[in-house]
Amino acid sequence: MNTIDKLTDLKGKKVLVRVDFNVPLKGSEVRDDNRIVQALPTLRKLLKEGASLVLMSHLGKIKWGKVDDVEIEKQKAKNNLEYVLPVLKKHLEGVNVYFSPETSGEKLAEHIKALKEGEVLLVQNTRYEKGESKNNRELAEDWAKNVDCFVMDAFGSAHRAHASTYGVPEVLKEEGKPVALGYLMEKEVENLGACVKGSDHPYVAILAGLKVSDKIKVIDSLLNKCDKILIGGAMAFTFYKAMGIQTGNSIVEDDQLDYARKCYASGKIVLPIDTVCADNLENPTKIETVETNLDKHSEGIPAGLLGLDIGPKSCALFDDIIRSAKLIFWNGPVGVFENEAFSNGTKSVCKSIVANTNAFSVIGGGDSAAAAKEFGYAKEFSHVSTGGGASLEMIENDGHLPGIDIIG
Ligand code: 3PG
Repeated sequence: MNTIDKLTDLKGKKVLVRVDFNVPLKGSEVRDDNRIVQALPTLRKLLKEGASLVLMSHLGKIKWGKVDDVEIEKQKAKNNLEYVLPVLKKHLEGVNVYFSPETSGEKLAEHIKALKEGEVLLVQNTRYEKGESKNNRELAEDWAKNVDCFVMDAFGSAHRAHASTYGVPEVLKEEGKPVALGYLMEKEVENLGACVKGSDHPYVAILAGLKVSDKIKVIDSLLNKCDKILIGGAMAFTFYKAMGIQTGNSIVEDDQLDYARKCYASGKIVLPIDTVCADNLENPTKIETVETNLDKHSEGIPAGLLGLDIGPKSCALFDDIIRSAKLIFWNGPVGVFENEAFSNGTKSVCKSIVANTNAFSVIGGGDSAAAAKEFGYAKEFSHVSTGGGASLEMIENDGHLPGIDIIG
C-alpha cells in the first residue's frame, strides 16, 4: 500500500489531506466526533514531520440542480463545516488551526500560502463547489495547484470519484507529485480486506436495513463468499412475501420478490422466525410478537400490524449461528433500535457478536456502528468502519474503490 510512511521530506511542504468530517450534527453541534478522532493519527504524523496541512471534507448533501440561490444558501447554512472547527481545535490543542470560508480561487490560495510549518487550515465544505461531485477538472486543478502533496484519509468518501477524492490526486500524479493513503485508510483497507476476501469460515454476514434493492450488489457478492447471511430489518419482509408469509402493514418491495426468491434458493439466507410487531411506530398502542417461521408454515404478520424488530426466538437462532462464526460482517440494525420497544434484536445481535471472541468481527459503518456505540459494545468489535456506503461498495467491488485505486 502506498501509505504516508513512504512520504519523505515533508518539512515545509503543503499537504492537502482529504478527511471525512461528514459528522452527525444537531443544529451547529457535533453529535459524534468519531470520524475526527479517527483522522488524528494521520494529522499528527504529518505535523510532526513539519508539514502544514490543508484539510478538505464535505459535510452533508448540497443538492445542486433545479433549485434557486435561496435554497442553495439554506443548504449551505445547514451544512457549514465551520461547526466542526471547535472540535478539531480541541483535539489539536497547541496547533494553530485556521478556517477558510472560501473553497476555491485566489482567496483560498492566499490562506494556503500564509500557512506556516506545523499549521492547519480547515477549508469550508467541498460541496459548496458545484464541481466537487462532478469531479470537475478545473476545480481539481485549482485545489491541486496550491499544494505539494495529497493524502487520502477519507475512507467514508472513498467510493465517490469527486474532485477532492479523485480529481486532485489525479492532477498531482500527472505532475509527478506524491500522493498517499493515510493511517485511517490503511486500517480500513486491512480490516475490511478480511471481509472482502472472506478466507475465514464459517463467514457469517448480518444484513439489515429498509430495502433489498439498496443491498442487491452486496448480497450477490456476499452469497459468493459467506456461509450464512442473516437478514433483519424491513428487508426481511420482502423475503417473507416472496416466500408466501403474510406481511401485514410492513414495508415490502414488490419489485424485488423474484430477486428475494432467487437469493433464498441459495440455501444461505436465514430469516427471522418471529417478529415484534406494532400497530404503528410513532405511538404504538398494541405491541405483539408473532411467529414468522417459514419452516413451520407460519401465517406471519396479520393485517393492521407492521414488523419493527426481530423476536426472541430469532435472537436465539441468530445467536447460535453467530457464535460458531470465524468471520462476521454486520451492516444494518435488525430493528428500529432508536425506540426502546424495538431495540432488543439489535442489542442481542451486538451481544452475540462480541461474545464470540474467536471471530474477527467487522461493523460496516453507519447506523449499526451508532447502535453498537449506544449499547456500549463498539469497543469490543475487531473493527468498526467509519464508512457505511464505502464499506459495502468495497465488498461489492472486491476491494476496489475510486479513492483508493487512484492513489495506486
Ligand atoms: C458517509 O457519511 O457515508 C460519507 O461521508 C459519504 O457521504 P455521501 O453519501 O453524502 O457521499
